[in-house]
Amino acid sequence: MVADGPSAVCNPGPIALTIEPLDWPENADAVVAFLSAHEWPYHGVPNLTPDDAAAVRVAGGAIASFWIRDDDEVIGLVRLLDLDDVDDGSPRFDLRIATMHRGRGVGRFAVQWLTDHLFRIYDSVHRIEATTRSDNMAMQAVFARSGYRQEGRFVEAWKSADGTWLDTLVYAILRHEFVSAQA
Ligand SMILES: CC(C)(COP(=O)(O)OP(=O)(O)OC[C@H]1O[C@@H](n2cnc3c(N)ncnc32)[C@H](O)[C@@H]1OP(=O)(O)O)[C@@H](O)C(=O)NCCC(=O)NCCS
Repeated sequence: MVADGPSAVCNPGPIALTIEPLDWPENADAVVAFLSAHEWPYHGVPNLTPDDAAAVRVAGGAIASFWIRDDDEVIGLVRLLDLDDVDDGSPRFDLRIATMHRGRGVGRFAVQWLTDHLFRIYDSVHRIEATTRSDNMAMQAVFARSGYRQEGRFVEAWKSADGTWLDTLVYAILRHEFVSAQA
């Protein structure tokens, strides 16, 4: 299910979810609490200290962020990145779902929502781009289910927390692909 604007409601199973804009700086403490409460196994720093979390940019410049809520509980964070590229480049995104809410359709809903949001809110967006690590099977499944094409593979471009080098997979969706899929 895809929303018309900056907020959305979905029902992946018995529980209704909402997506709504993050308020900045009012939500600064909530961002630190959320990011430091969960492990992010496929990000550069899987366990963020409060200081690490405070350094993750969620607003200002070319970034806009949104909470995914299950009633009053924050269960996810969507960061839209490179929004200064909407006219002539490819905005990107970062998506993080709370540990206990992974694997129940929230990620898929969030990618479908943010894709619709970017194409709908920004008339000039031609393409959305995203990357994930080659061992992140859940994210690859989300991309495949959401109409994103794998466009590239950068070999051993992503250094994991244990020091090993993994491949970076590049995905994208074009506006006309998105529109065709809606028809
Ligand atoms: C990656 C992430 C966003 C995916 O969201 P999610 O809510 O867990 O995924 P969903 O429940 O929407 O599942 C979507 C698909 O992934 C599959 N999937 C979920 N977890 C999986 C896993 N661990 N391994 C393989 N496939 C998996 C589901 O079966 C589903 O596939 P289907 O539609 O063919 O049935 C989420 O797990 C997460 O936040 N992980 C940690 C942060 C992260 O890796 N972010 C992405 C950085 S690029």
